[in-house]
Amino acid sequence: MAESARTLNVSGIRVTIFSDRDAAEAAAADRIAGLLDDRRMRGLSVVLGLATGRTPIGIYRRLVARHRAREVSFAHAETFNLDEYWPIGLQDPGSFHRFMHEHLFDHVDLPRGKRHVPNGSLPVSALASHLADYEAAIRAAGGIDLQILGLGRNGHIGFNEPGSTRDSRTRLVVLAAETIEANRASFPADTSPPSRAVTMGIATILESRRILALAFGDAKAEIVEKTLLGPISPEVPASFLREHGPPCDVDLFLDEAAASRLSAATDRSGRG
Ligand code: F6R
Repeated sequence: MAESARTLNVSGIRVTIFSDRDAAEAAAADRIAGLLDDRRMRGLSVVLGLATGRTPIGIYRRLVARHRAREVSFAHAETFNLDEYWPIGLQDPGSFHRFMHEHLFDHVDLPRGKRHVPNGSLPVSALASHLADYEAAIRAAGGIDLQILGLGRNGHIGFNEPGSTRDSRTRLVVLAAETIEANRASFPADTSPPSRAVTMGIATILESRRILALAFGDAKAEIVEKTLLGPISPEVPASFLREHGPPCDVDLFLDEAAASRLSAATDRSGRG
C-alpha cells in the first residue's frame, strides 16, 4: 500500500484515504490481482462482483496491463456485474454489457461462460425469470468473494436508488433523475438514456463475503460523509454497507478530495 495512505475504522468500515486516485486504483488492482493469484495457487476458483461507471475504469486498465504482462490470470474466475440499463441492446453504446467488453472482457482470459451481466435486452415478460436466474447463478457459483462498488452521488450502490430497502433483491428499478443526468454522457447526444435498469439488490450485494467500495473527487465528499456518519437508512442505500456481515468486511478506498468532509467529522466524533 502507498506509504502516504492512512486507514481509519469509521462506523465499522475500513476507510483508506490515498493521496490521489491513482494510488487508490493501484491498491484496488493489487487487491483483486492478489485474490486471483492466491486462489489460482490453491487450485480454487474465485467469484468477483463487478461495477461499471467512471470509478473502476482505472482498476480494469491496470488489471488488463497485468494480464498482458502475464502477471494475472482470470482463467479460474467467474464474474457478476451489478446492473444494466433496461431496455437496452447488448451492443448499444451506453450498455454496461458493451462497457465491460471494452474495458475488461475483451482483453483478459476470463472464460466466456463465466462473465455475467444482467441482460437489458429482454422483453419485460422474460425479466422476472432472468433476474431470479441471476440470483440463482450467484448462489450456484458459491456466492461473491469480492464485490467492487462505486458510490452514486445520491448514495446509490448498484442501481439501488434512495428508497431501496435492506432486503431488496435483483430487480427492475426506476432510475433517479440525477442518475440519468450523471450518466447522460455515456449515450449519444441525440438519444435519451433509459429511465429504468435492472440491479442486484442491497441484500444481494451484502451477501458478498467482502466488499471494496471506491469514491473519488469532491463531488463524492458529501455522500461519503452521509454513508459513513449519517443514519443507516434507505434514503442513503450505501449506508447499509455498515450492516455487512458479521463480520463486517467492507473497505472504502478514497482520494483526499472524496474524504475531505470526513476527517473533520471523524475528529469531531472521536471515531476513526
Ligand atoms: C455501476 C453502478 C453505479 C456506479 C455509480 C458511480 O455499475 O452500479 O452504482 O458505481 O453510479 O458511478 P461513477 O463511478 O461513474 O461515479
